[in-house]
Amino acid sequence: MTRRFYVTTPIYYVNGAPHIGHAYTSIAADVLARWKRLDGYDVFFLTGTDEHGQKVEKAAQDAGVDPQTFTDAVAEQFQALAATLGLSNDDFIRTTEERHKRACAALWTKLVEAGEIYLGHYEGWYAVRDEAFYGEDELTTNAHGIRVAPSGAPVEWVREPSYFFRLSAWQDRLLAHYDANPDFIGPHARRNEVTSFVRGGLTDLSVSRTSFRWGVPVPNDPAHVMYVWLDALTNYLTATGYPDADAPRAAFWPADVHMVGKDIIRFHAVYWPAFLMAAGIPVPRRVAANGWWTAEGEKMSKSLGNVVEPNALIGEFGRDAVRFFLLREMPFGNDGDFSRRALISRLNVELANDLGNLCQRSLSMIARNCEGRLPAAPNPPAEADVGLLAQAQALPALLGAAIETQSFHVALEEAWKVIRAANAYIDHQAPWALKKTDIVRMGEVLRVLADVIRHIATVLQPFMPDSMERMLDLLAVPAEARSLAGLATPMMDGMTLPAPVGIFPRFVEEVA
Ligand code: MSP
Repeated sequence: MTRRFYVTTPIYYVNGAPHIGHAYTSIAADVLARWKRLDGYDVFFLTGTDEHGQKVEKAAQDAGVDPQTFTDAVAEQFQALAATLGLSNDDFIRTTEERHKRACAALWTKLVEAGEIYLGHYEGWYAVRDEAFYGEDELTTNAHGIRVAPSGAPVEWVREPSYFFRLSAWQDRLLAHYDANPDFIGPHARRNEVTSFVRGGLTDLSVSRTSFRWGVPVPNDPAHVMYVWLDALTNYLTATGYPDADAPRAAFWPADVHMVGKDIIRFHAVYWPAFLMAAGIPVPRRVAANGWWTAEGEKMSKSLGNVVEPNALIGEFGRDAVRFFLLREMPFGNDGDFSRRALISRLNVELANDLGNLCQRSLSMIARNCEGRLPAAPNPPAEADVGLLAQAQALPALLGAAIETQSFHVALEEAWKVIRAANAYIDHQAPWALKKTDIVRMGEVLRVLADVIRHIATVLQPFMPDSMERMLDLLAVPAEARSLAGLATPMMDGMTLPAPVGIFPRFVEEVA
């Protein structure tokens, strides 16, 4: 039976250029997608752009261009970023595409037929920056005397005809769903936040707007455009071919994981399952929410001018180093700080010293002392060999369990335990001394190291695809043996290895 896995990133608002916070959720989703492929799953990995709504319309007006021209340009930046980050996405959805408008219309019609949508009048607060409605009791007044939402976004009073979704009727069924599916919201700490919001009572949700035009028209009532969150969330269905039940990707629904930031969990864990249940469509299996990055201790903002720009960062440090740092530095779900110093330190200590040196030391000894051929495995292996090999062989299961719960930092720590153990093993076995006293044993030690490095490089491919590809090239591992299952095929004694080259150079800060 085909094992399928469907993972998504949020679709990004095209009101401004991408930054490191956007890159983070996408990289985390990419690691998950690549891991599942490595584990033999048929994976569908989706990312894209959220192009409708008042916020994008305003950004286009400010730029003095029509919204479609504006969104075309910014969507292109996000597409380019996906390539720069090395995302292995199978599709890139833009909500201005026809296929998406069609899916939105189909879902809307389903909800109308089910009696879940009715026409009324909305009067209340709206924050354009969050594209969200707020109750009076949620608002405060900021230092400038402006009424703001809990996110700090200014609110405005909106009064207009609107269609409503009967969200209030879904409170008990949502709570029952969270109860029956304890892993629906991850990390677990986020569950309480969502359940207490739902327990606090739900009011019907305004799902259309009439005061602007930049959105998906409501079927049979073109004076209304759909609320941008109903439109945006539907992207996850659109990409599976919805509403065509026999579309090639239809079988990927329900999604396995929606990766999101903590600020948008309410939309994904409350509104989205309610819309889906109301339309009789299965609900995604999990919504996993990451924390937020600050930059050098401060909130990232355009006005402070401290937005960390992923292209520049990757240009300077390389894609894999940035991917590694982002997933290693901040436990998924927590907030974290991006600092250049911390990045350089991890790059030099963990990548260059720990992993880079392990590989370089082992492979250059094979090149110099074994005519560049893979020495035979120890028979029987010494106790130290057995211990280290067992640790390496345990990696797929350990990383798999950590990645399953989006604990990427734990997965990396497990790999680094083995890297550190392998470095201790070299120091202890001292193959350079064995060269003079016991050349056969020297070869065995180097062979154990090659086996261990192969395991490490294989499981780290999802995190650092380019450099681990190069590491596996240095070990002459054939392309078809680079999966988790491929680890079962032993390396071949006597195989010629390419001349070793360094994979992670130390980063030296230029002094001005
Ligand atoms: N368009 C909506 C999502 C719709 S999904 C159906 C949206 N877009 S966004 O561009 O504003 O944000 C996209 C993602 O980036 C969110 O998950 C948000 O949490 C994340 N981040 C934005 N700034 C961030 C940081 N500083 N740190 C980490 N993630 C951040 O919301």
